Amino acid sequence: MAKETSTVLSSNISMKMMAEGLKRSSETQDVTQTPIFKEVIVNLGDERTILDIGAGVGRFTAPLASAGCHVTAIEPSTEMISYLKETLSRYNVSESVDIVQSSWPSDNCKLAEVALATFVIQFSDDWVAFARAMEKWATNRCILAVHVDPLMFFMERLWPIFNPDKPNPRMPGFTEIYPALLNAGIIGNVKVFEEQHGPRWKNVEEALPMISGRLGIAENVEAMKKLEDILRDPTSEVFKTRPHRVAMISWAPPKSI
Ligand SMILES: C[S@@+](CC[C@H](N)C(=O)[O-])C[C@H]1O[C@@H](n2cnc3c(N)ncnc32)[C@H](O)[C@@H]1O
Repeated sequence: MAKETSTVLSSNISMKMMAEGLKRSSETQDVTQTPIFKEVIVNLGDERTILDIGAGVGRFTAPLASAGCHVTAIEPSTEMISYLKETLSRYNVSESVDIVQSSWPSDNCKLAEVALATFVIQFSDDWVAFARAMEKWATNRCILAVHVDPLMFFMERLWPIFNPDKPNPRMPGFTEIYPALLNAGIIGNVKVFEEQHGPRWKNVEEALPMISGRLGIAENVEAMKKLEDILRDPTSEVFKTRPHRVAMISWAPPKSI
């Protein structure tokens, strides 16, 4: 299942959609108030070093650097890195962050007190290897965040309408990832909490190119018309706000126990 999602991620449309979602989230949410940010801070040692794996646009990287931390941001995507650099400049913390362009697991990093990976592990082909590599490079704590509810819940309804013969390339979440970690003996404390997500798009014009790209129907005039009609329906779920549960999994790497 993880392999299918790698394909989803690799398309430009998905990357753009992800970057826009992350930017909006960093503008509307104060991450310093989240359980994830607090968990990182309480597990820091004297050096205040953090590995932010799959840093994206720097939603956590920049506020952590502002809190006096030294962050190594691991990020494979050139597009995300350009957004990340913008965020770091905006926070005036570029000096406190080393950017490493790489996928995780990577040996191109240095030991840190906390290894953090928020909403990244689901893209990996091997969740256990991903988590084991966090243990290798963290001295105090490994912290993962994964979705409990699917981020784009409305795709569950739209996908079969437009792709009745193809399985929905659904992102794996907590229900798949946590058991895999448990089976490998990685037993973390779990905290599930709710995040309020506003609608991803303001209007049909914004939503149409992204959703049609995701559904693979952008070239199909008839299907595009049908999608537009669905989105213009005032009862469309796409523009509704709804609570979204996420899980934080936090554990000590074996060597520090
Ligand atoms: C949903 S975003 C999350 C970004 C950030 N952690 C946050 O919570 O705002 C996922 C990020 O992980 C990156 N990514 C995907 N696969 C990765 C891998 N194997 N190693 C490191 N980063 C990866 C993507 O390029 C993207 O920037």
